[in-house]
Amino acid sequence: MIMKLVPPTPSLPLILILVIPLLQPLPVPAALFHVGGPMGWTVPPTPDFYQTWASARNYTIGDVLEFSYTGPSSLLNVRKYEYHRCNSSHPIYNFSGGMTRFVLLYSGNCYFISSDFHACKKGQRLAVRVLPRHRRSPPPSSSHRGA
Ligand SMILES: *[C@@H]1O[C@H](CO)[C@@H](O)[C@H](O)[C@H]1NC(C)=O
Ligand SMILES: *[C@@H]1O[C@H](CO)[C@@H](O)[C@H](O)[C@H]1NC(C)=O
Ligand SMILES: *[C@@H]1O[C@H](CO)[C@@H](O)[C@H](O)[C@H]1NC(C)=O
Repeated sequence: MIMKLVPPTPSLPLILILVIPLLQPLPVPAALFHVGGPMGWTVPPTPDFYQTWASARNYTIGDVLEFSYTGPSSLLNVRKYEYHRCNSSHPIYNFSGGMTRFVLLYSGNCYFISSDFHACKKGQRLAVRVLPRHRRSPPPSSSHRGA
């Protein structure tokens, strides 16, 4: 004989507790960063230009990177391995058209290179570290997190 177990029906207060956090508005509006400032996305004057630019800012999920560029080469979103080698053979995304807005959807590192190998080697590549969204409004008693 097979007995069928009927799961208990959750009570209404429990359902409300589970749903309400999902309805909270996001705490901080997203930021838009124009990559490279007035210079835009191009072969930079120094190889570390974009890393210096990137390290002066904090990036959070939902923020937008705006790339403006000219010429035939495209903008590639790549993996770490390809970023370090200027390897354009298997990008995650391949953008062209001179104006690309990239929404940072995941926390962790995010990498971009020029599809032009020599331009990439001269510094036209960017790595940003994206932080989770709750970072800007930490709870008051967070001193033991990660312990
Ligand atoms: C980035 O975050 C760090 C650590 O929270 C903070 O000290 C720094 O001032 C922030 N930088 C900017 C440009 O917001
Ligand atoms: C990226 O797109 C451009 C233009 O659409 C194309 O010429 C190029 O071959 C593509 N590169 C890669 C690596 O997919
Ligand atoms: C470029 O990366 C791909 C994997 O994405 C790899 O198969 C290929 O061998 C790499 N090419 C070079 C020149 O490193």
